[in-house]
Amino acid sequence: MPVKYNAQMSASATPPIKLRPEIVALPPYRQGKVVEGGFKLSSNENPFPPLPGVLAAAQLASETMHRYPNGFAPELSGRLAERNGVEIEQIIVGAGSVALLAQLVIAAAGAGDEVIYSWRSFEAYPLLPPMSGAVSVQVPNRADHGHDLPAMAAAITDRTRAIIVCTPNNPTSTIVTKTEFADFMALVPSDLLVILDEAYTEFVTDPEAVKGSDVLGRYPNLVVLRTFSKAYGLAGLRIGYGIGPVSVIDAARSASIPLSVTLHAQLAALASLDVEDELLERVGRIAELRTKIWHGLIEQGWSVPEPQGNFVWLATGDFTNEAAAILVKNGIMARPFHPDGIRVSIGESESVDKLLTSTEEIVKNLSKKHVAEPIR
Ligand SMILES: Cc1ncc(COP(=O)(O)O)c(C=O)c1O
Repeated sequence: MPVKYNAQMSASATPPIKLRPEIVALPPYRQGKVVEGGFKLSSNENPFPPLPGVLAAAQLASETMHRYPNGFAPELSGRLAERNGVEIEQIIVGAGSVALLAQLVIAAAGAGDEVIYSWRSFEAYPLLPPMSGAVSVQVPNRADHGHDLPAMAAAITDRTRAIIVCTPNNPTSTIVTKTEFADFMALVPSDLLVILDEAYTEFVTDPEAVKGSDVLGRYPNLVVLRTFSKAYGLAGLRIGYGIGPVSVIDAARSASIPLSVTLHAQLAALASLDVEDELLERVGRIAELRTKIWHGLIEQGWSVPEPQGNFVWLATGDFTNEAAAILVKNGIMARPFHPDGIRVSIGESESVDKLLTSTEEIVKNLSKKHVAEPIR
């Protein structure tokens, strides 16, 4: 006869289930919170709703919801290959670029191997190496909040299997320049995987920034990751892609969970490429708001690195929690990373004044320590 589960029994009578301690010890991934009636500026989402053509494409996919999708997303992969001037075999589509990051790390790094990345960076990075028993090597950001690429290259050991470079870096919104990247790649052995995470590349306006599309052909060990979640506004559908050498892309494919990219996501991504001009016009508007916010912050005395993603970085240090509380009180839900700072996404235009009023209040309330000396 089946034995019914009850919580007390699990707590006392049964021995603990044997799990991997390094996985159990991981903090859960935290999502951005929502304040009732406030602005959700905590997840770097696109504030614009999907364009009509994109909605219609997702609706069309609903008609065959009872069928599995083709998990290889052949039509979308073909389109992306064409756009990027590569072979279709060099494209991998995943359920968000974070899934592809995980697949690449699993494919490259096993037990005891090392994965290098800058820190602070995307909060999902520390969760990835332990999946395959590998370990993180975090190299602190420079004082201006950018990647310290020479230090990252110096951190390479015999056990290093992957290096993640994030540009623009989440959460500091700083870029890696073309020269910095070229100098870095000259120091990295050509059999060591480098992942260029370009989740926010469409928002970049600095001409000095490295672009994956320009350097892809140059390095046999480079994979570029992009997403439809940010500029293309499809965060809820979960779809991203990678471009790289066939051997690496094949290995990442082998490390995927089958059929995880839905047809809704594939058709919506294709439709969003059809209306790209309109989408990128919206990106331009977000970049304008970003400049307005940045200038406003500098005027208030904040030291903010020039933002190149759809978010700005407030280096509030030890005052992070107090500063975040002031933002929440004013209806701004941002993403605090105590004790480093707060990432604020660029959202609805109506949020801008509210944000700047709140940051002014923070300046008045807290020590000037973290808000002097603007970085230009
Ligand atoms: C730097 C960076 N990379 C990758 C991702 C993952 O994006 P997605 O899985 O939605 O494609 C994010 C999301 O916030 C990010 O900030």
